[in-house]
Amino acid sequence: MTDRRRRLAALDWMAAMGADEAIGEEPIDRRRTGRPAAAPEPPPITQEPIGASAPSSRDPGPDAPLAPAQGAADAREAAAAADDLDSLRAALEKFEGCALKQTATNLVFARGNPDAPVMFIGEAPGAEEDREGLPFVGASGRLLDRILSFIGLDEQSVYITNIIFWRPPGNRSPTDAETAACLPFVRRHIALVRPRLLVTLGRPAMNTVLGLNSGINRARGRWVEYGEGLEAPIPAMPTFHPAYLLRNPAQKRETWMDFLSLREKLDELT
Ligand code: URA
Repeated sequence: MTDRRRRLAALDWMAAMGADEAIGEEPIDRRRTGRPAAAPEPPPITQEPIGASAPSSRDPGPDAPLAPAQGAADAREAAAAADDLDSLRAALEKFEGCALKQTATNLVFARGNPDAPVMFIGEAPGAEEDREGLPFVGASGRLLDRILSFIGLDEQSVYITNIIFWRPPGNRSPTDAETAACLPFVRRHIALVRPRLLVTLGRPAMNTVLGLNSGINRARGRWVEYGEGLEAPIPAMPTFHPAYLLRNPAQKRETWMDFLSLREKLDELT
């Protein structure tokens, strides 16, 4: 992206955030002002082996219709057997190890271009995604598309999926068992797409895919490595989920910085 295009995109972004009026003679770089001069170094963020986290209290109890361990074991086998995206989708269509499938209308697999250099991974489909069978087509998706457009990307230049392939009823948080049942498919999905860069949207996707144990506020915008099932690790970055940005517009400034960092990484690839 040229400097001129970057500056125009930044202006578009600011106008979209409501900053459409100049109130001073000199610009203020808010990324640099207001920070303590010598802020203590935050403790390092650690990456845990993916899938190693203990089940939380959100897990269904012994009366759950599907044994979580069995769901995850079946998923590993089915995902490993898929050697292209069509067979991965077909394996998910047949998979019975995730209870969410019983209440969802459609499998929500992916949208965008599987040959694109960057892959985004969100959390779980909502009502519109469930109806259309495509991820990020509701309000969050419209915001994501808008953010992408500010750095010169569109549906053809990205590939988008979720860590959960079916809508949780009433948009509740997915349980650990549901997440564990989908995870082998998510890992295989990434391995088959082999993106050059990976971006996770929101804390659940960051924890599940990248195994980062910190909060999203601390981890966002930092590049780490993702290597599961890949010949060589690729750069991966967590950022805020667009749904969170809709509720907390003030965080859009950090998001803008994260997406500029993504743009720079993409430019380095070419
Ligand atoms: N939120 C997500 O995490 N994924 C979607 O597909 C839609 C909303």
